[in-house]
Amino acid sequence: MRQEDGFARRAGALLRAAANDLKRDDENAERDLGLEHGTFGPHTDGSRPVDWDLVRRAAQVWPLNERDLLPVHDDCPLGVAVTREKESLASSRVLSRAGAPYYEYRDTAMSRIASYRPEWIRMLRTVDDDDADNPLVQWNRGHLLYQFTYFVGPVNYYYRWNGASHCVPMNTGDSVWALPFGPHSFAARSDAEPAYILALTYGGALLGDAQRELAVLGRQTAHELAVPVAGEARDTAALISSFLAARAMPAAELAARTGLSRRRTEELVAGSAAPDAAELVLLADGLGTSVRDLMPPRTGTADGVSVQHAESARSWEVPGEGAAAYRITGLAGDPLHPHTSALQVDVLLGDVQRAAPLSTYQHQYLFVLGDDPVLLRWEFRGERFDETLRPGDSAYVRPGVPIVFAAAEGGRPRVLLLRIAGAVTPEIRHALGTMAPGGIDRYVAEDRLWYSKEGN
Ligand SMILES: [Fe+2]
Repeated sequence: MRQEDGFARRAGALLRAAANDLKRDDENAERDLGLEHGTFGPHTDGSRPVDWDLVRRAAQVWPLNERDLLPVHDDCPLGVAVTREKESLASSRVLSRAGAPYYEYRDTAMSRIASYRPEWIRMLRTVDDDDADNPLVQWNRGHLLYQFTYFVGPVNYYYRWNGASHCVPMNTGDSVWALPFGPHSFAARSDAEPAYILALTYGGALLGDAQRELAVLGRQTAHELAVPVAGEARDTAALISSFLAARAMPAAELAARTGLSRRRTEELVAGSAAPDAAELVLLADGLGTSVRDLMPPRTGTADGVSVQHAESARSWEVPGEGAAAYRITGLAGDPLHPHTSALQVDVLLGDVQRAAPLSTYQHQYLFVLGDDPVLLRWEFRGERFDETLRPGDSAYVRPGVPIVFAAAEGGRPRVLLLRIAGAVTPEIRHALGTMAPGGIDRYVAEDRLWYSKEGN
């Protein structure tokens, strides 16, 4: 990793924020943590390190976790971090199944800021049918991460859900989005042409705090907290029931608040009927929520996956100066993850000045497909950068960094983009949007005691 700025400062800010939360001023914090007088301030402003002893001591005497005081690393200080194909090649390893080589894996661009674990994977097993029960196919046990997969060449995709196995023959440009823990496999249908996938796994909000919290709360609680997404009235009923329990409110009180009949309210709570739009507004009012809190997500997955074949994928142009800059093709995704976008970008212009900047709130991963190199231009903190990316190169782009693609040496470069949300969910974005003036800056890096020693 590059020389990193700001780690000590971020650690100090977390320590200050934790002490504020626990209503400790410097003297109290020093006493609790066994620090010398006058040293807590320097620990919180980054001029003294927050070392492991201090973290451990804090986790012993304060009701917090070591993790709460550990910042993340910034391994992408220029806005974009490029991984060259030769670096990917250097990570190549062959994994065997049942004693025979099955996949060649290569790492591509990853960052400590985002939950991507994108792998280039070549199929070393060849089959000559599309039988889901072909004994040559070796299955995995499924895994935690969501998986978006982009196919290159003749590759069979195998997936299993509730005991039923499926095989879908895929070709270049086909893609699939899959839910966690479904067993799956891949095999080539030919060894005469390239057959590989970009297996772009990511955890999103499933990783991190939620997983750690549930690991403590336990399996039974996790099962109880699971909300169905069946596309049925009971999905909404589960949300209404949750709020009733949270408010310690019987259905009769909800009926009184909403003006809905007792019988109708009980139907809605039981899930034997779904509320219409007007009833949703009444229920939200009665429960003190927003309407969106009572609306379950929907999913287009069938047996845990959402398949998008290239021939039926929608594509559209993004205008540049005087001509279209890109042809975008929408790849596999699902309404369960509205903040994930998988896109294939065909770069139409050679002139970077005329191309259009693409910017998003999401973390971005890109991989250069095809045969043509692409010029990547981006701007970050007032500086402009240009890099030529060749086929097989990949990159991570921080949220909010505008990027521009142009054909570096003519041709028609093709780039795969997978954009995902990180821990900054809509709830957090709304929280940022409702903070008192100055709050956002202190949330990002708390730099002060929560009150003034000198008084107002
Ligand atoms: Fe996988």
